[in-house]
Amino acid sequence: MSLEAETKSVVAQFDFTDEQVNQGVKEFIRQMEEGLEKDGTSLSQIPTYVTAVPNGTEKGLYMAVDLGGTNFRVCSIKLNGDSTFNLAYSKVAIPKELMVAKKASDLFAFLAREIKHFLQQHHGDHFEQHSRRRMTSSSPDGYKDEHVFRMGFTFSFPVQQIGINKGYLIRWTKGFDVPDAIGKDVCALLQEEIDKLHLPVKVAALVNDTVGTLMARSYTSPGKTGAILGAIFGTGTNGAYVEKLSKLKKPLAGEYDNSTGEMVINTEWGSFDNQLNVLPNTKWDDALDKSSVNPGVQMYEKRVSGMFLGEILRLVLVDLIKDPKISLFRDENSNSNDWHSTTTIAQNSGIYRQWGLDTSIMSVAAADNTPELSILRQELETVLQIYAPSLEDAQAFKAIANAIGRRAARLSAVAIAAIVLHSGKLSDPAYKDEPIDIGVDGSLVEHYPYFRDMIFEALRAVEGIGEEGAKRIRIGIAKDGSGVGAALIALIAAGMESKSAAATAATGKKTNSQFIEELRSEARSKDIPMFTIKREDSEKAETTTDE
Ligand code: BGC
Repeated sequence: MSLEAETKSVVAQFDFTDEQVNQGVKEFIRQMEEGLEKDGTSLSQIPTYVTAVPNGTEKGLYMAVDLGGTNFRVCSIKLNGDSTFNLAYSKVAIPKELMVAKKASDLFAFLAREIKHFLQQHHGDHFEQHSRRRMTSSSPDGYKDEHVFRMGFTFSFPVQQIGINKGYLIRWTKGFDVPDAIGKDVCALLQEEIDKLHLPVKVAALVNDTVGTLMARSYTSPGKTGAILGAIFGTGTNGAYVEKLSKLKKPLAGEYDNSTGEMVINTEWGSFDNQLNVLPNTKWDDALDKSSVNPGVQMYEKRVSGMFLGEILRLVLVDLIKDPKISLFRDENSNSNDWHSTTTIAQNSGIYRQWGLDTSIMSVAAADNTPELSILRQELETVLQIYAPSLEDAQAFKAIANAIGRRAARLSAVAIAAIVLHSGKLSDPAYKDEPIDIGVDGSLVEHYPYFRDMIFEALRAVEGIGEEGAKRIRIGIAKDGSGVGAALIALIAAGMESKSAAATAATGKKTNSQFIEELRSEARSKDIPMFTIKREDSEKAETTTDE
């Protein structure tokens, strides 16, 4: 078969039709409801114990750390009390060997050392004073609790949460595999290592990145109503949404404030349809899953998120390269090609290595609309060491990459549509003149060309949404959501700790949307910008793909 014909046949296998989108949405809603009723389901629907959002007037210095993908981020957030804040952060790539460490303490000790380093760099005075106080006080309790930073811990893996700062790790995802940590309270694991270094830090809140994104977006998005969904389409994928407590049927272990009648639910939709009732399944999806560290789970994530799309593409390409009847990246094309040199694939090319094809090259393929695809061909040389690829090679690469990216976007629309429909907001009078707001973050949605457009194209095809409904849905980036959101939740947690926190008691009696409206009118009356982020500093910034 010619390369062109073979490409067409591969592309067709990644088609995800409107009909499949609709079937997917129905099944997603079914699995959402199942997850609200009992534990152990494919869609975990984890209660987060977050029942309200802050009102924007609080002041204080909070810390947030973020473990969940390629990098570990530490930040401190100074809330100014007028809806603005200042943020300082540092970011470090997580050493690969620690992602699969034997002992949980190896990984968590690394995190604690990074926190120490950050404190010394950005809050040296506080750190010094604390150390001095510690050394001079006669008892370990001699130094005061108020000198301790409250820290929100964004831990973006499935966790069975049983309280605002307590949760047991269910499973690792995104290539992490530290079996020793499974079933343990991740806040305690981190606190233990922090305490070994005598740092003035208390892990006050455990937050999934999607929950942080939802919080931060609610706080920032203009309009009377808050965001209904916070979603990540990055290295991994997941979403958190606001659910009515009355719909949450399974028993809740920990204590929570039920006065708002709502709770944020972490869906863990990466594991939607692990049983493959409706998910598409090509032979390459199957191969990817079988050789992953977690076969059989995160089946939706393995078709949608940045960590996996490049690997699916790589597996397809390797199959084509191996087939003697198909001339992909071979001399046959290059001899007659416009670059007049021999096509070669270096022996150490990432194409021959598991995970060796970074998804970011798919963005280049999608964005390159030059007639000779010269940008993509250059990228194939520099990133994948595939030298002098022909135009036909690049066209095949682009078509297959686009098909995988498009399927991912259409699958993403399944989750979004299901949550929009389940929320009933399209027919809720309170939302009549309001957008249905969704906060998103992650490399894919931020950098993959037309990702949101492709999501909308699929949303328009969903029964119950259609053209009109899709116009009312707004999908906006909530940058730094996980850091800022975690700090906001640490703040709520700090308020919960203190019985005298009257403000928190008041917040407990209002719904999310009431809070947001109050926050906004206050901001409007004072004529202050809703949300300003001033980066005081950033260090060790890496250019690696990350959420
Ligand atoms: C994790 C989620 C997380 C998502 C995005 C998934 O692999 O299971 O907890 O929210 O990645 O980071």
